[in-house]
Amino acid sequence: MSAVIECDSVVKQFGALKAIDGLTFSVEAGEVFGMLGPNGAGKTTMVRLINGLLAASGGRLRTLGFDPITQGDRVRAHTGVLTETPSLYERFSARDNLLLFGRLYHVAPEKLTGRVDAVLRDLGLAERARDKVGGYSKGMKQRLAIARALLHEPQILFLDEPTAGLDPEAARHVTDLIEKLSREGGRTVLLATHNLTEAQRLCDRVAVLNQGRALAVGTPAQLSRDLWRSTWLDVELRGVNGGAPTDRLLAQVRAVPMVKAAAMEGHSLSLQVESEEAIPQMVAHLVRLGAQIVRVNPREHTLEEIYFALQEQAEKAV
Ligand SMILES: Nc1ncnc2c1ncn2[C@@H]1O[C@H](COP(=O)(O)OP(=O)(O)OP(=O)(O)O)[C@@H](O)[C@H]1O
Ligand SMILES: [Mg+2]
Repeated sequence: MSAVIECDSVVKQFGALKAIDGLTFSVEAGEVFGMLGPNGAGKTTMVRLINGLLAASGGRLRTLGFDPITQGDRVRAHTGVLTETPSLYERFSARDNLLLFGRLYHVAPEKLTGRVDAVLRDLGLAERARDKVGGYSKGMKQRLAIARALLHEPQILFLDEPTAGLDPEAARHVTDLIEKLSREGGRTVLLATHNLTEAQRLCDRVAVLNQGRALAVGTPAQLSRDLWRSTWLDVELRGVNGGAPTDRLLAQVRAVPMVKAAAMEGHSLSLQVESEEAIPQMVAHLVRLGAQIVRVNPREHTLEEIYFALQEQAEKAV
């Protein structure tokens, strides 16, 4: 794997305000990377810095190996950006908007109409392609803005709040599309979002930001391990050998050194162990104690739980 975006100790100052305060992370080719964080955390600012639309006040940035400020045109030739409030020409049709932007993005003239028709079709806008954009719904405009970001077949796609303000169906449609775009063609996606369910579904790794700093960067599983330093297992039992009562099993389980906590509800045993690596040994222990195991599920923390735990930690640290 190789990093297509590298941010090292990046700082962005707006007058007295430090919007980005020493941010370090990198994004690997082909992954969907999420930037999460409250309003004003610095997500949009980072998207603009990485694309060379703003100059950093300090630190080092590389996008596809290029310096986004001195080699901004080369960066933007390979990146597509969906901004927070995309501006489209309302008096033009969707098709004419795309033809115009395609020329601006230097799509080869002989390929242009083919690309325009392809993105209109992919985004489900082909039937309304000749209608004026002024008469489009918000979701249709959002899809058109995504189509525009994809016109020049960028290697990296930046999506700043792609489903904000969309109804659940349109949001689902856009999420499905992002998933498809990342899976096909190995495109890298950098997603800034407040929608944690969407991030959970789409992101391979995330950076959780607060006031221009990264509270954590990693896969949800890594973040979860760092936060709680333990793994919960749900073990479903058919029973205990010899018909022994389950409360006796529970007492025996609690006496096992690697078990931090245990509870029994009906025939379901919940266990807290130090790490996932302890699971095979734990299962062997249970079998030795006579447990007839039907199913073992490691319980995963949701991205929402991770997000709030990190933000709470940050508040306490202030
Ligand atoms: N051009 C600018 N001039 C002055 N301050 C700015 C500018 N752009 C951003 N900021 C400030 O930088 C901080 C980060 O803003 P940014 O838009 O990056 O946040 P965000 O994480 O995208 O927030 P949101 O979730 O609301 O979109 C905010 O305090 C904002 O006011
Ligand atoms: Mg923003």
